[in-house]
Amino acid sequence: MTRTQPVPGRPAGAGASPLLQVRDLSVEFRTRDGVATAVDGVSFGVGEGETLAVLGESGCGKSVTAQSVMGILDSPPGRITGGEIVFGGRDLLKMPEEERRAVRGARMAMIFQDALSALNPVLSVGAQLGEMFQVHRGASRKEARERAVELMERVRIPAARARAGDYPHQFSGGMRQRIMIAMALALEPELIIADEPTTALDVTVQAQVMDLLAELQSEYRMGLILITHDLGVVADVADRIAVMYAGRIVETAPVAELYRAPAHPYTRGLLDSIPRLDQKGQQLNAVKGLPPSLLRVPPGCSFHPRCPSARPVCRADEPPLYEAGAGRTSACHFWKELLDDECAE
Ligand SMILES: Nc1ncnc2c1ncn2[C@@H]1O[C@H](COP(=O)(O)OP(=O)(O)OP(=O)(O)O)[C@@H](O)[C@H]1O
Ligand code: SF4
Ligand SMILES: [Mg+2]
Repeated sequence: MTRTQPVPGRPAGAGASPLLQVRDLSVEFRTRDGVATAVDGVSFGVGEGETLAVLGESGCGKSVTAQSVMGILDSPPGRITGGEIVFGGRDLLKMPEEERRAVRGARMAMIFQDALSALNPVLSVGAQLGEMFQVHRGASRKEARERAVELMERVRIPAARARAGDYPHQFSGGMRQRIMIAMALALEPELIIADEPTTALDVTVQAQVMDLLAELQSEYRMGLILITHDLGVVADVADRIAVMYAGRIVETAPVAELYRAPAHPYTRGLLDSIPRLDQKGQQLNAVKGLPPSLLRVPPGCSFHPRCPSARPVCRADEPPLYEAGAGRTSACHFWKELLDDECAE
C-alpha cells in the first residue's frame, strides 16, 4: 500500500491569496431517523477570478456546503457543527448576523437551479434588478431602471428595454436564468455560487447560459463555485475541481490533471460515465450502485461498497485526504497506484 502524508483540513483549490477559505466545515441534520452528517470536515478554497467546480452525485452535500457558505442554511433542521468559512479575511461564522447579511447582499451572490422560484413572481424583472441598485447603492428610481436595462443587455436579453416591464413567467427558462445571472452580477460581488445553474434547461440552452456565465466571470474577475453533476459541463469552464462523496471531499485537482488522470476511483467512475460522441449506442459506464444514506455511512472508506479497487484495509481504515502530487488531494489509500496505472495506460 502506498501512503504519503495525510493533509487533514488542508484547504484545497486555493490560489496564493484565496478569496474564500473553507476549513473543516461540518453540517448535521437531526432527523427522526437519526443524525445525518451532510458535510463532514470539508475544506476548500477559491481564489479571485478562479472557478472551482464541485461535483458529486445527488445527496452528497454540495448544496448544503453552498448554503453554509452563503449563510442561507435551513437551520433547523441543519446545524453547522464545526469549521471556519473565511471570506475576505473574516470568519463568516463568527460575524454578527447584520454584517453577514450585508456580505450576502453585496459581496457574494448565488444562482439557483430554479429561477422561477428564486425570482419574485409579482415584480417585473426590471423592477427586481433596479431594486438592487436602489437598496444597496442609493440609486434613484430612474437611474435604477437604466442600470437594470443595461444589465439585461449585458446578459443578452433581446429587446431588453422593451422587456424590462415583463414578469418572470413571461420569459423562457434560459432567459430567466440569464436574469438570475444579472441579479447575481448587479452589485459586482467578489464571489458567485452557482448551484446547478443549467440543470433545468435543455442541452443547447445549457451551453449558452454556461458560456455566458463563464464569460462574465472572467470579465468581472469573480471567484465562482460551480456546483454540478455534470463533468462534461465543467471541462471548459473550471480551473479546479473538488469531487464530493457522502459529505466529504474525496479528490481535488486542477481540471486538466483530473481529466487526464483521476486520483480516486470514484472520480474515475464519474469520468467513465460521460457520454462519448464516438461511442454512440454503447452502454454508459456509470458508477455502479447507490451512494450511502448519510445516516449510515459505511465504516472505513465510505466508497468501499462500490469501489472496484477496494481491498480489506478499505473497510477498516478511513482514508484521510492525502496530498497526491502538486496541488492535488485524494482520499484514497491507493491514489499513487491509480496515478501510476493511468500513466502506464
Ligand atoms: N432539509 C433537510 N432535512 C434533512 N436532511 C437534509 C435536508 N437538506 C439536506 N439534507 C441532508 O443533506 C444531504 C446533502 O444534501 P444536499 O442538498 O447538499 O445534496 P446535493 O449534493 O446538493 O444533492 P443534489 O445533487 O441532489 O442537489 C442529503 O443527503 C440529506 O441527508
Ligand atoms: S480507499 Fe479503497 S475503497 Fe476507498 S476509494 Fe480507495 S481503493 Fe476504493
Ligand atoms: Mg443540490
